[in-house]
Amino acid sequence: MSTTPPNPAVKFIVGNWKMNGLSAGLEEGVALARALEQAPAGGARVALCPPATLILALARRLAGTPVEVGAQDCRPEASGAFTGDISAEMLRDAGARLVILGHSERRAGHGETDADIAAKAEAALRAGLEPIVCVGESLEQRRAGQALEVVRAQVLGSLPAALDAAAFSVAYEPIWAIGSGLTPSIAEIEAVHAEIRGALVGAFANGARVPILYGGSVKPANAAEILRAAEVGGALVGGASLKCEDFLPIVRAAG
Ligand code: PGA
Repeated sequence: MSTTPPNPAVKFIVGNWKMNGLSAGLEEGVALARALEQAPAGGARVALCPPATLILALARRLAGTPVEVGAQDCRPEASGAFTGDISAEMLRDAGARLVILGHSERRAGHGETDADIAAKAEAALRAGLEPIVCVGESLEQRRAGQALEVVRAQVLGSLPAALDAAAFSVAYEPIWAIGSGLTPSIAEIEAVHAEIRGALVGAFANGARVPILYGGSVKPANAAEILRAAEVGGALVGGASLKCEDFLPIVRAAG
């Protein structure tokens, strides 16, 4: 895995397909890659994270193209009696090079703690996967004025010290903005990203250069404004990443 610090001028645009997509959906990824081959997006690094069932096929179809392939979760152990789970090594073997960890749908739906996510991040490093670690507050926490402290605690608890010399990203995804069509104001995004930057700089040698992505209802209509905000190093995109016609304009908005 690369340990070269990322170029902050390049925005990292990641599509999270969640539990969507049958084999036919591979064509959306192929169309995206073809479009970027014909007209490269110099200002963007681009990745798609399909469901695990499609990783092998998508990685084969996108080999040698500008679109990288990632996974949405992994189990910390490398192998063993864990029915239904998938290890970081298996994802890497299938062709993934990245893995989303600690998405709020896993923190809430599967009871994942910061410590669980840190163990998964260590597994990702062991297997040669680049982690994208998600953090974000609930609506109740935001209304109670706790957003900054909640997010800082998640960053410090979910990122193991082993990441110090590794390439990784953090994604700020307010839970109430995911799939809702609601987004925080630009000032609210900038305040949380500044808080995350401060936590990263305090904890990691490379902390000033770790990309901090924004996620939650990113669409073609709001992508450019969000990507211009201070300390926004890219976007983690759910619903609008499923179709090339929606995702490509978001990639292009990166410049
Ligand atoms: P959304 O999801 O873009 O559909 O809001 C973002 C995410 O959950 O990563």
